[in-house]
Amino acid sequence: MKILVTGAGGQVGLDLLRILHARGDEVHASDVALPPEALQQDLPWHRLDVTGAAEVDALVAAVAPEVVFHLAAILSARGEADPQRTYAINQNGTLNVLEACRRNSVRQVIFTSTIAVFGPPLPDLVPDDIALHPTTMYGVTKIAGELLGDYYFRRYGLDFRAVRFPGLISAVLPGGGTSDYAPLMYFEALRVGHYEAFCRPDATIPLMYMPDALRALVELSEAPRERLTRSVYNVAAFSPTAREIADEVARAVPGADITFKPDPARQAILDSWPKALDDSLARRDWGWIPRHDLQAMTADLLPKLRELLPGAST
Ligand code: SER
Repeated sequence: MKILVTGAGGQVGLDLLRILHARGDEVHASDVALPPEALQQDLPWHRLDVTGAAEVDALVAAVAPEVVFHLAAILSARGEADPQRTYAINQNGTLNVLEACRRNSVRQVIFTSTIAVFGPPLPDLVPDDIALHPTTMYGVTKIAGELLGDYYFRRYGLDFRAVRFPGLISAVLPGGGTSDYAPLMYFEALRVGHYEAFCRPDATIPLMYMPDALRALVELSEAPRERLTRSVYNVAAFSPTAREIADEVARAVPGADITFKPDPARQAILDSWPKALDDSLARRDWGWIPRHDLQAMTADLLPKLRELLPGAST
């Protein structure tokens, strides 16, 4: 199957390319700037600024993909540094991608939404359908992306599907997210032996290991549409406190020293997000089930990071 991925140079994209390519798909990667990995990968990379409607339309027309994974976005923390640019990329970019897909008869669009669509007041376990009060431009634009996609499905029959991801942890560094304290604990413990987290020890948000996140995207994409009762689904894995992650890292990387110095702006964003997501509709409709908890993630992730980080402590 021919697939186009936007934002392919990001944390999700780089790993997604690998699994789609391994599955035998003809994968076309695109991003506004080509990452160093673009040279090493045996697949076509295209420069694409999603804010340019004509540029997006031209690439979708040229590649003629059956499915588009639309990942291009500015994350929450970086987004607050320039909300207007975040709007242009996340909001106009998503409209441009949906419109190009409609005009060029793309069969399906997969979209990555987020826990950042939620905001207070929230129950302990947050369901799919609840009043949405995001506190970041990232969250605002991701809700709009969900709604636009669902509109394109109802209005034009474009098969739009989305997951709301927790914070994601992987062997690829994230760029500008508020959940970055979690992956950074692992990276920095191995790289330099210490890390000062920008959150409180009791900060708690839903998190997920990347292999589960990728499987969620692929399984949602493959699910028969008639089984889906909605276009957008919560997916969940585990919800440790930041202290629990720090303890887990210290257990697995002897000598690692993780301390806490909360940054008020980023801590406020974390405080506005769910502590745990209810993903029962994804489980019911398309059989979603996470495979990694905190401990299983640590066991799988650390050897990968040790390989990537030269001179990492053992
Ligand atoms: N990881 C994202 C962020 O921190 C949340 O979706 O912005």
